[in-house]
Amino acid sequence: MNEKQRLEQQIINKNPSDIKSEKDQDLERIKSTSSDEMIAKYFQTTYQAPNMKDAKKRGKQDTQVHYDFEIPEDMKNIGEGKKFLIRTYGCQMNEHDTEVMAGILADMGYETTYDQQEADIILLNTCAIRENAENKVFGEIGHLKSLKRENPDLILGVCGCMSQEESVVNRILQKHQFIDLIFGTHNIHRLPQLLKEALFGKEMVVDVWSKEGDIIENLPRQRKGNIKAWVNIMYGCDKFCTYCIVPFTRGKERSRLPEDIIQEVRHLAAQGYKEITLLGQNVNAYGKDLDMEYGLGDLMDEIHKIDIPRVRFTTSHPRDFDDRLIEVLAKGGNLLDHIHLPVQSGSSEVLKIMNRRYTRERYLDLVRKIREAMPNATLTTDIIVGFPNETEEQFQETLTLVEEVGFEGAYTFIYSPREGTPAAKMQDNVPQEVKKERLQRLNAVVNHQAAQAMSKYEGEVVEVLVEGESKNNPDVLAGHTYRNKLVNFRAPKSMIGQIVPVKITKAKTWSLDGEMVETAEVR
Ligand code: SAH
Ligand code: SF4
Ligand code: F3S
Repeated sequence: MNEKQRLEQQIINKNPSDIKSEKDQDLERIKSTSSDEMIAKYFQTTYQAPNMKDAKKRGKQDTQVHYDFEIPEDMKNIGEGKKFLIRTYGCQMNEHDTEVMAGILADMGYETTYDQQEADIILLNTCAIRENAENKVFGEIGHLKSLKRENPDLILGVCGCMSQEESVVNRILQKHQFIDLIFGTHNIHRLPQLLKEALFGKEMVVDVWSKEGDIIENLPRQRKGNIKAWVNIMYGCDKFCTYCIVPFTRGKERSRLPEDIIQEVRHLAAQGYKEITLLGQNVNAYGKDLDMEYGLGDLMDEIHKIDIPRVRFTTSHPRDFDDRLIEVLAKGGNLLDHIHLPVQSGSSEVLKIMNRRYTRERYLDLVRKIREAMPNATLTTDIIVGFPNETEEQFQETLTLVEEVGFEGAYTFIYSPREGTPAAKMQDNVPQEVKKERLQRLNAVVNHQAAQAMSKYEGEVVEVLVEGESKNNPDVLAGHTYRNKLVNFRAPKSMIGQIVPVKITKAKTWSLDGEMVETAEVR
């Protein structure tokens, strides 16, 4: 019998009443030698680890919708006089999850703080999309160790997409045992219960569901501002692009019911919000999992009639972008003239290995259709360089596609292998210097096109939603145009939250400078 089998046998033979007292001594030994399943059995309620194979499964059963979320009675005032801080990494989905967790904590009596010294709870809402995103989080975990030493009552939690990865949870269990709580993206609604276990139990609480949960409708939200708001329309992703971790960390596609979304948007409009962004990893697949003939186009058509000045949506997948949606977007009004349409590569061969399920030609056809229906629309995209086996010619196809479409902005990335994804099994064989050089060449083209698009605005008057003070200068206000261009201009602070006409005086690559004007012809 080897050491691992011996330990497993010991756990099986234990009398449950002895377990509590022996847990502490055995914890270290068991963690390093026993199997996940055995640890799970031993720690019962406090250990549920992720499993990437389970995360990949797509079950047939329908997603249930619940409207009965409640903070348990004994946790309602637990946070009184205490403060929390949530650090958010990654995409808008995570930003919005943070608003939900902040809402739950506020309902338990906790207050927000931005000063980690005075926080009683610190949560890291993490992103797993690329290796450097993960490295940032591990760096931060390292920094937090000394804070925990100074204040042992501090609760440190790791949640979000990294928690859904087996390797990350194992690394925290082995190397960062001062973390109190790990939970994933599917069980945010259990935060009160998990926090209770972390506050009153001794061991690290690990509760990560590999299978996505149901939709919980009535979660509280503490929104970050009162001008712009996120609205989830669906969760998860079924596309399984070969490089991407998201289908594993966010589970299968689940659409919220149209009436629930519309009610939320109406409510935000009534509260005075000026802009909403409909959120999903692949919003064009909205409704496919619902038992009705209803898609994103239909939903947008209804939202179009709601009295809220601006409606955006992200992120679109070219594959499911249908004619009905184009027809509705062409109606304009509050549906803004900006489409973020990730292409990833301009080479049909690379797209095939990426499992994007469209070719260069089909993408260009879609762009043509969009331009015909919405001649003024801004198009932006996401691109990956250095995917396994990407040749110089294939990369050049990406450059020519960027020029042909005339993207006015792009998020560009170097390919980063993600454990558990199909591409991670391919050889990551484009040398790092080549990847960097391709990224630079691509960025040069993107920047040039962005600057050109901006220069057309000089002397024009645009309508800007004033979102607040500019990041770099509190005397200057900042906001975005209908086509999502950032504008900085001087105006009284009382204009924050209004849509105002601004005359553009100077165009830069990524922003415009201007002056507020009375009224005039706007574009
Ligand atoms: N659902 C969105 C994308 C979410 S991830 C969509 O399909 O468009 C945001 C971007 O990160 C992706 O569009 C892709 O360009 C990039 N990305 C995802 N996985 C990556 C990886 N393994 N390496 C590098 N970039 C990646
Ligand atoms: Fe990832 Fe592809 Fe899904 Fe986007 S569509 S989240 S890139 S798998
Ligand atoms: Fe990152 Fe998860 Fe979003 S991996 S990009 S936070 S869905």
